[in-house]
Amino acid sequence: MNQPDQPQVVRRPVVVRNLLALYEQPRYLEIGVCTGHTFHQVEAPYKVAVDPEFRFDPEAAARENPGSTYHQVTSDEYFGSIVGEDEQFDVVFLDGLHTVEQTLRDLTNALPHLQPRGVIVIDDVAPPTYLASLPNRTNFFEVRRHLGSTDQRWMGDVYKLVYFIDTFFQQLTYRTISNNHGQAVVWRDRRTSVTERTLNEIGSLTFEQFALEQDALHLTRFGQIVKEVRASVER
Ligand SMILES: C[S@@+](CC[C@H](N)C(=O)[O-])C[C@H]1O[C@@H](n2cnc3c(N)ncnc32)[C@H](O)[C@@H]1O
Repeated sequence: MNQPDQPQVVRRPVVVRNLLALYEQPRYLEIGVCTGHTFHQVEAPYKVAVDPEFRFDPEAAARENPGSTYHQVTSDEYFGSIVGEDEQFDVVFLDGLHTVEQTLRDLTNALPHLQPRGVIVIDDVAPPTYLASLPNRTNFFEVRRHLGSTDQRWMGDVYKLVYFIDTFFQQLTYRTISNNHGQAVVWRDRRTSVTERTLNEIGSLTFEQFALEQDALHLTRFGQIVKEVRASVER
């Protein structure tokens, strides 16, 4: 997965750029921005960056990027008291704290601010290893040291959110990008049925079950996903 020698792998900025291109004057929100690797490589007339710990000077960035706003706060603080009540975005990228609880809250908080034909990208829903799926980052480092591993990939248990959406967000349709590290692309389109699961079953899903029950991910190549989102935008 996500090896540099695989030219077909779609990187984060490419995913966001292709989705922004579906809208005339796109408004973009990114939760979890870090160095700005994605945020500063995508263009939109209106961009909002949220991160409690930017790895760059947000004031200098705001001066250099008119049209971009930087909020050095957690996503909860942003959605709880900063975002305008009527503010709407076309593309939202959720890449903040990688636990299923936080990402679920980010998703539910983002939905009222997604225009009806907008799209949400959720990062890191397909951990490549058990190690990468550990929800607690401190434990991740300790287990990694115990294993003598140098693998830096950490995705937490965000993968459980896909099963949650599948079962509890019937008004949303989603696909997981098969030709990158695993991002869920979510948009409003109701589904005729859901897969029955209890909250308990989703909460206690294991990496082993995730690896063996991949159907729920709806793995799809990114090009096909863009076609489906475009059809929904143009409907
Ligand atoms: C994987 S990085 C983001 C990478 C970035 N989206 C990109 O594509 O280059 C995750 C970021 O989430 C931020 N973060 C952690 N907790 C957060 C929270 N509660 N709300 C928003 N961002 C958070 C971290 O500070 C970190 O910079």
